[in-house]
Amino acid sequence: MRIGVLTAGGDCPGLNAVIRGVVRAGIRGNGDQIVGFVDGYKGLMDNDWRPLTVDSMRYTLTRGGTVLGTSRLNPYMRADGVQQVRDTFAAHQLDGLVVIGGEGSLSCARALTEEGLPIVGVPKTIDNDIAATDQTFGFDTAVAIATEAIDRLHTTAESHDRVMVVEVMGRHVGHIAAWAGIAAGATVTLVPEKPFDIEQVCKTLVDRHHTGRFASIVVVAEGARPADGTEMVLDPVDYDQFGHVRLGGVANVVAEHIERKTKIETRVTILGHVQRGGTPTAFDRVLSSRFGVAAVEAVHDQAWGQMVALRGTEIVRVSLDDAVSALKPISDGIWSTVEHLSA
Ligand code: F6P
Repeated sequence: MRIGVLTAGGDCPGLNAVIRGVVRAGIRGNGDQIVGFVDGYKGLMDNDWRPLTVDSMRYTLTRGGTVLGTSRLNPYMRADGVQQVRDTFAAHQLDGLVVIGGEGSLSCARALTEEGLPIVGVPKTIDNDIAATDQTFGFDTAVAIATEAIDRLHTTAESHDRVMVVEVMGRHVGHIAAWAGIAAGATVTLVPEKPFDIEQVCKTLVDRHHTGRFASIVVVAEGARPADGTEMVLDPVDYDQFGHVRLGGVANVVAEHIERKTKIETRVTILGHVQRGGTPTAFDRVLSSRFGVAAVEAVHDQAWGQMVALRGTEIVRVSLDDAVSALKPISDGIWSTVEHLSA
């Protein structure tokens, strides 16, 4: 078979391991030819491609980012985008396409599948917010990076008896904040799913610091928001050129309130894209590799409109419809653990 592959949306540790899995399973297992499209859907529309081989994918398993490049462009942003995609499919006589992407890129894959194009999805995002899979690759790496950063902040916080506010990624959900908060022993964790009351946050910190020298760590997901009717107000939301909410900076507002109200010296660390860079963890390399191999099997089964997913410890297939129908919030169990261990 001739199989196309592209990586779309924000990059994520483990993308190269998925591509490598597709290439090895396709070429070695089935004698396929693999066509890699450059910069996501942009390369698919512009027919910007390169052949992928076992040799060309050597030394990429441990590398972050994506050797194919990525972008947030999609065919529905161009008047003739879908026709361009059809033309590229025809030019390469593609039998199927593997789209590795997050919720936005997979929604686009679903729409293209409904137009008759043979596509299989692979879920990607450090945010871990895709509902139909227990975990996305990249999440474990982001949690490990955030946890190590918070561990390092603990010692400097203790030395100065400060509050350290750490902002982690998580636009709509707080998986990274909750997991890193638990792993690194955060005092307070703020997530988008649970609007917070800054008065309550300050009271928690004051109560703790009044018992002696107890430096505190406040982990805040970039999408965390104050509850309606509470005192704290954030600046209006900014959008990038693709209409996605551009976040980052809530930690500064939280820290300013904390320092003013509690009189405890407070500092801010915004981890930002550090969480998306560098080598994937062993867990993410394994999950990505399994997804890559499973995607090739799905293409050979002509499982169009399906996405590979992790259920428990097994790789399964789910429909792209289910995959993009809703975001996955943190579970009650994780939140209960956060609450029990905070302060
Ligand atoms: O969706 C993944 C993510 O890393 C979010 O956590 C974050 O808000 C966003 O991407 C950042 O996007 P960009 O790379 O366009 O700044």
